[in-house]
Amino acid sequence: MKTRFPVRMLACALLAAMPAFAQDAPASQPWMDVAKSPDERAALLVAEMTQDEKFALIRSRFAIGEKKPDEALVAAGYVAPIPRLGIPSQGLVDAGLGVTNPGGAREGDHATAMPSGPMTASTWSREIAFKGGETMGREAWRQGFNVLLAGSVNLQRDPRNGRNFEYAGEDPLLAGTLVGESIRGVQSQHVLSTMKHYALNDMETARNFHSAEIGDRAMHESDLLAFRIAIDIGKPGSVMCSYNRINGTYGCEHDELLNNVLKRDWQYPGYVMSDWGGVHSASKAANAGLDQQSAGEVFDKAVYFDGPLRMAVGAGTVPQARLDDMVHRILRSFIAVGAFEHPPQRQPVDDALDAIGFDVAQRTAEAGAVLLRNENATLPLAKTVRRIAVIGGHADKGVIAGGGSSMVGWTSRGTTAVSGLKPTTWPGPVMFQPSSPLLALRATLPDARIDFADGRDRAAAARLAREADVAIVFATQWAAESVDLPDMRLPDGQDALIAAVAAANPRNIVVLQTNGPIEMPWVERVPAVLQAWYPGIRGGEAIAQLLTGAVNPSGHLPVSWPVDVSQLPRPSIPGLGFNPPQKPEDTIDYDIEGANVGYRWFAAKGLTPRYAFGHGLSYTTFATSDLTVRSEGARILARFNVRNTGDRAGATVPQLYVHLPEGHTTPLRLVGWQRVELQPGESREVEVELAPRLFADYHPEDRSWRIAAGDYDIVLGQSAADIGARAALRLPARQLD
Ligand code: BGC
Repeated sequence: MKTRFPVRMLACALLAAMPAFAQDAPASQPWMDVAKSPDERAALLVAEMTQDEKFALIRSRFAIGEKKPDEALVAAGYVAPIPRLGIPSQGLVDAGLGVTNPGGAREGDHATAMPSGPMTASTWSREIAFKGGETMGREAWRQGFNVLLAGSVNLQRDPRNGRNFEYAGEDPLLAGTLVGESIRGVQSQHVLSTMKHYALNDMETARNFHSAEIGDRAMHESDLLAFRIAIDIGKPGSVMCSYNRINGTYGCEHDELLNNVLKRDWQYPGYVMSDWGGVHSASKAANAGLDQQSAGEVFDKAVYFDGPLRMAVGAGTVPQARLDDMVHRILRSFIAVGAFEHPPQRQPVDDALDAIGFDVAQRTAEAGAVLLRNENATLPLAKTVRRIAVIGGHADKGVIAGGGSSMVGWTSRGTTAVSGLKPTTWPGPVMFQPSSPLLALRATLPDARIDFADGRDRAAAARLAREADVAIVFATQWAAESVDLPDMRLPDGQDALIAAVAAANPRNIVVLQTNGPIEMPWVERVPAVLQAWYPGIRGGEAIAQLLTGAVNPSGHLPVSWPVDVSQLPRPSIPGLGFNPPQKPEDTIDYDIEGANVGYRWFAAKGLTPRYAFGHGLSYTTFATSDLTVRSEGARILARFNVRNTGDRAGATVPQLYVHLPEGHTTPLRLVGWQRVELQPGESREVEVELAPRLFADYHPEDRSWRIAAGDYDIVLGQSAADIGARAALRLPARQLD
């Protein structure tokens, strides 16, 4: 396991230079002709390049610490420009939850710390996901970067995975669609986005070694499907291959996954870059489809894509055509996002743009927080509430964020609001974005008395709760890249704190800021629970808006919420936890659930989760009616009416599932949804186009997706466990592309 953070911290003070720009190239160079396609332009360029120039493009250097090239901006990677040909430099910066600002708070480095991936996914909103991507792309560009290491779409197979907060939940259609939209948003700003980590990097335990074991069909109908959908929508310039092995072969040496599936079957035209430390060979990796080695001089045993690959090309073990293809793919991706014509340029401070980014973050958090439980209309807080006890979670200072390479360490509000929490080194430090829920609540309810107890003294917290009209406990769970969580429990005695507060005052509320689902042993005594994930730079403000009813909650779970680990496909995972010893023979058997990830697992096993995938309450009520489903040529369309039957404006997310006949390996699949905002009493006719691929099965024997002829049962519901209206649809047999 690499421990990189200290290196990154050391680099904080370094100043960075501007990258070189493509405009320097004379217009007479035919590859600069924007009327030509990216592939035509790339081919013209490759024909002009020397062998050294080609080799210079297929490896990036780590731009943090001692080996940082002088002219590079402090960030995860850098490739020098080739001014002779007008090829721009490549500046690679993390990540998918905002520009991480690894160089520290330099003048003009505006970045928005976005809510976590599952929080964006909980919005079920393509538009919000796009806006988030657009914001991050714009901010990367304005800092001088043209590659954002975003687009994380590994499926959530286990709530203990330390990186779930970077991903988008358990369902391939929802995750693929929203991550695809986010990538599209990034690239709309002439910043190339990755999609990562390809593939099956679904746990962090022994991530550099473990082999994800899974059958072909199951893999295609789950994780690979999410990647495929994200590619179709987002067209990411690059795909990052993962650390782990898949059925015994490293992700960055996986001929089947890279060459056959990604590049041939899916016709992906972009390039594959390695994860940092994910390369183990020269010829094997290059011939398997890896196009660019990332920061090999720091993270791999060798810079395989320099000396060793030169020798392999010289010896003919790797064909020259393969090297040319690697270069072509890289160039065509930069051309396709407009990076040649619109090179990134460090921009002066623009407070108005910063505010726009922060507004996007707040809107995402407001739409992505999930009201899990609300007995006796405990929420929203009544205007008559005079005394409120706010307890725990450093709510007086900020909201927690996940750790690792995706952590946005600086914004215009400064760095962490709570320092010194352990671990302070990689994958720490533990970050609290400076956005205090307590202060935001006080601002929203100026007439109420709102007191705070930090929760370390349970008795004092209970006393404060007893004296108040209502008590709100803020509970946090930190998770980070490179380590999995040992269990599903809230750490640091927070369960006991919640129980003590609940015993002291039955009018209590728990606000969770977690990686994802946790055990809730206290839930029967807590009438209201709001899941606020890791809510980003305006998380405190968003939580206050939701608790007070200024904003009506509308998030819906992008994951099933198990009662405890006994309901998971793998209740125990050998070596799970912090810094387990790594053994090359480690495997994770994903065939236990196969493609039945999340709600499909619960349905197949007849288990009842605490909260189902898709669940989410509102302060108003909705009703749906008049469901019809029809096919029109290749399209499958559902139509229904949705009405706000309560007395507040709000948004709902009616979901459509296909329930497959008994005997089918998968019991049900999400096939479509629509987020609908309605005024009280308003109703709307909604048409949703359903995804044909979710009606189809993958057939490994001929690598085809086929819909079997038959009658399909379509269900409209408010979650995967809710069966509202049903409609039957007869479909003819059909093969998909
Ligand atoms: C992570 C990637 C990240 C890269 C560069 C790796 O450890 O897995 O997600 O983009 O580092 O920082």
